[in-house]
Amino acid sequence: MYFTEIEKVTGGEILDSRGNPTVRAVVTLADGTSGSANVPSGASTGKFEAHELRDGDFSRYGGKGTQNAVKNISDALNNAVRGLDARDTYAVDAAMKAADGTPDKSKLGANAILAVSIAAARAAAAALEQPLYRFLGGVAANTLPVPMMNILNGGAHAANNIDVQEFMIMPVGAASFREALRQCSEVFHALADILKSRGLSTAVGDEGGFAPNLDSDEAAISVILEAVEKAGYKPEKDFRIALDAASSEWKGDDGYVLPKSGQHFTSEELISHWEKLSEKYPIISIEDGLAEEDWDGWKRLSERLSGKIQLVGDDLFVTNTERINKGISLCCANSVLIKPNQIGTLSETLEAIKTAHKAHYTAISSHRSGETADTLIADLAVGMNTRQIKTGAPSRSERVEKYNRLLAIEEELGNSAFYPQMSAFNVG
Ligand code: PGA
Ligand code: ZN
Repeated sequence: MYFTEIEKVTGGEILDSRGNPTVRAVVTLADGTSGSANVPSGASTGKFEAHELRDGDFSRYGGKGTQNAVKNISDALNNAVRGLDARDTYAVDAAMKAADGTPDKSKLGANAILAVSIAAARAAAAALEQPLYRFLGGVAANTLPVPMMNILNGGAHAANNIDVQEFMIMPVGAASFREALRQCSEVFHALADILKSRGLSTAVGDEGGFAPNLDSDEAAISVILEAVEKAGYKPEKDFRIALDAASSEWKGDDGYVLPKSGQHFTSEELISHWEKLSEKYPIISIEDGLAEEDWDGWKRLSERLSGKIQLVGDDLFVTNTERINKGISLCCANSVLIKPNQIGTLSETLEAIKTAHKAHYTAISSHRSGETADTLIADLAVGMNTRQIKTGAPSRSERVEKYNRLLAIEEELGNSAFYPQMSAFNVG
């Protein structure tokens, strides 16, 4: 018996930031060390994501209970990984995938499998007395990510009249992560002041950004740029804007229909729309500008804009190496959003990042709209040098926990910490 041998895995049903159930796993090793993990849950989920197992028993949590997933953690997955070396993430994950046996992890649940995968890695890191980012990335893991901070929420994440799901600010000129975070927080508060002065709501959406009713999506960009200036910064030089259209939510049989404004676009019109917006405003990145099955549209979008801005595939790629490779071969997008629960294991998440980087696509470590206090994505960003992180506004603890974890990592890295500048994005 060796010290990192997995002795026991247990599951638990907990709540996420929307008050819906999700799962937690605890992995205990032979030396008594343990690691735990909580998994998040999306709202604008991609059609090709791995399967999130829910009970469907409408007498509990409206059918969203996770008791079956929890049972799978404590029974089937416990049996699959007991006796394995927790240091070997790939072997642990392979054993769980074999126990599940389905391509989308629908038998045991991607939520159950991911919780064990991360908890095992955490237990191994703890047994080795290493921080998780170091366990994942070794000594080369020293780059802090630039936040893509979602300070204005719309779409499926907010009960307002805005169709674009996320309006993010990127502090592209900061000298360190700590400074970047301060700058973002100052802009967030300046935005609150502006909204209040206009009698607009400062209530927040699922990812902690404000969710006011505004005249248009463009008005949201304008008010954010005003906030940047009010906080004493220069749009373009200090801050760029990133959007997540989450446009799979808009796709119908006959083009794109924006559910709140009622506007209608063909793929071609939507491409022109993004082109015009990115010419008019300091936009550095657009995520899911087209829908998850619109490969032809994505090709044309990428031909037009990929030399100018970052084009991020979220629902398009779902952190799935096969879909990322398809995108690379078709020259679609130039960036991959990385959400571990879209694919369901840590090792496949690492492969997705490596696949993106090998093709000179950027990768962005990302939260879900339904989150917990788990900070895996902060360690993942540093461990795998993703150089960008999407984890919401500086508001709501489930978002702020990730930023606070990054502050701690930056401090721990000391002089070896590196905060990337614009050149990190291959664009602009
Ligand atoms: P989700 O949204 O977690 O609700 O899917 C986040 C995103 O689209 O990036
Ligand atoms: Zn998205």
